[in-house]
Amino acid sequence: MKYLFGFVLLLIVAAGGLMGSVVVLRWTDNMTETVKVVPGERVFTMPAGTLPRMGGELTPPREEREAAAKRPNPVKATAQSAARGKALFAIYCAPCHGPGGKGDGLVAPKFIPPPDLTNVSLQKQRTDGYLQHVIGTGGAVMPAYGEALSPEERWDLVNYVRTLAQK
Ligand code: HEC
Repeated sequence: MKYLFGFVLLLIVAAGGLMGSVVVLRWTDNMTETVKVVPGERVFTMPAGTLPRMGGELTPPREEREAAAKRPNPVKATAQSAARGKALFAIYCAPCHGPGGKGDGLVAPKFIPPPDLTNVSLQKQRTDGYLQHVIGTGGAVMPAYGEALSPEERWDLVNYVRTLAQK
């Protein structure tokens, strides 16, 4: 009787220990063993007919500025386009570049002074593609607006900036 009691006790302790270690094991590697997709593990093909949300134009990375500079301006430099650019300029660019693009915005004295965008020789050096790319990806210190403005809005801004030099 005494031995049976000891044996049953041993069995209970052994079962408890086993259950305990299963819990510990599950607890320690639960998160690593879940069903998941590791980034880059699988390439999902886009469903047929998928279009980019904002249209087809991609913004080349900053390193590809030279290639980006060669892109032609797809938005005609009409008065309407320049007017759209002017409205955007007042919101996004005037704080630094000044309302007329002269580089005299309120932020300019406290920041790196931006160049005078009305400068005719600077404008001659730059292609539309270059300017649109600077607006989208930023300059040495100028912030990038690729996420705030659509490619078309950035071409409108280029068309507006072009009107500044003609004065
Ligand atoms: C935070 C201040 C700031 C804002 C906002 C800003 N810029 Fe600039 N911008 C600069 C500075 C500083 C430079 C010159 C140094 C550099 O390239 O970063 C510059 C340079 C430029 C140039 C000349 C690039 C070249 O190399 O010839 C253009 C064009 C320009 N900005 C357009 C814009 C437009 C359009 C906007 C609005 C969408 C804008 N910037 C918003 C500060 C700013």
